[in-house]
Amino acid sequence: MIEIHDITKWYGSGESKFQVLKGISLDIKEEDFVVIVGASGSGKSTLLNIISGLERPDSGSVCYDQRDITQLSDRELTQFRKENVGFIFQQYYLLPNMNIDKNVRMGADLADNQHYRQIIKDVGLGDKMRKLPGELSGGEQQRVSVARALAKKPKVLFLDEPTGALDEETGRMVLNYICMLQREYHFTIVMVTHNLNIAEMAKTVIRMNSGKITDTYKNEKQKTAYEIGW
Ligand SMILES: Nc1ncnc2c1ncn2[C@@H]1O[C@H](COP(=O)(O)OP(=O)(O)OP(=O)(O)O)[C@@H](O)[C@H]1O
Ligand SMILES: [Mg+2]
Repeated sequence: MIEIHDITKWYGSGESKFQVLKGISLDIKEEDFVVIVGASGSGKSTLLNIISGLERPDSGSVCYDQRDITQLSDRELTQFRKENVGFIFQQYYLLPNMNIDKNVRMGADLADNQHYRQIIKDVGLGDKMRKLPGELSGGEQQRVSVARALAKKPKVLFLDEPTGALDEETGRMVLNYICMLQREYHFTIVMVTHNLNIAEMAKTVIRMNSGKITDTYKNEKQKTAYEIGW
């Protein structure tokens, strides 16, 4: 589904120029659950942003079903993201003056009303649609951002440290919702984390170090959010 070939990325210029990604290649299959792990600064977020079309590499290709998104114009890339990918970050980025229903509907964009309301119910917030983000707990706000990301039926869900701001119990709950929703809606997951325990939930684990992939393996058995350590 996604074929990533020989990605490189540099930051800075002149003396301070340095290479963040040093030739990354990998294939992501439909409905895979990929977790990318590695030390802080190893290039995980940069790679995630390039695969998802938020950033451009300096060289290499990122093909979705043979379509290389690195060759798209800015406008085409924006359209591509709108139609194909969803994002969840450590911060929730909810609009503070809009209620939950409106926040998720904004994310829905092209999708139909019925669907986005169902997703709010799916993340257990059916009774909180009229509340403002500030009236919810951290875990509830992250579940709203999950609903918002999924409201437009993305083919791929990208997550960068989605539990980074959550305590253990809440973090497990959010991860559990994400897995449950994947079984129901069949999207592909690509998640970045430095929590090695979370890698045990993945189908495919990618380890990174200093801008390179050092190891790729499949878990024989995927653990649930409640079986992993924290
Ligand atoms: N926009 C930028 N400009 C310059 N340097 C950057 C930029 N973004 C990231 N970097 C640098 O690139 C390197 C890799 O950053 P990246 O955010 O991809 O790492 P990471 O693996 O996600 O780390 P963390 O686990 O701390 O989030 C770091 O040294 C970082 O300082
Ligand atoms: Mg990061």
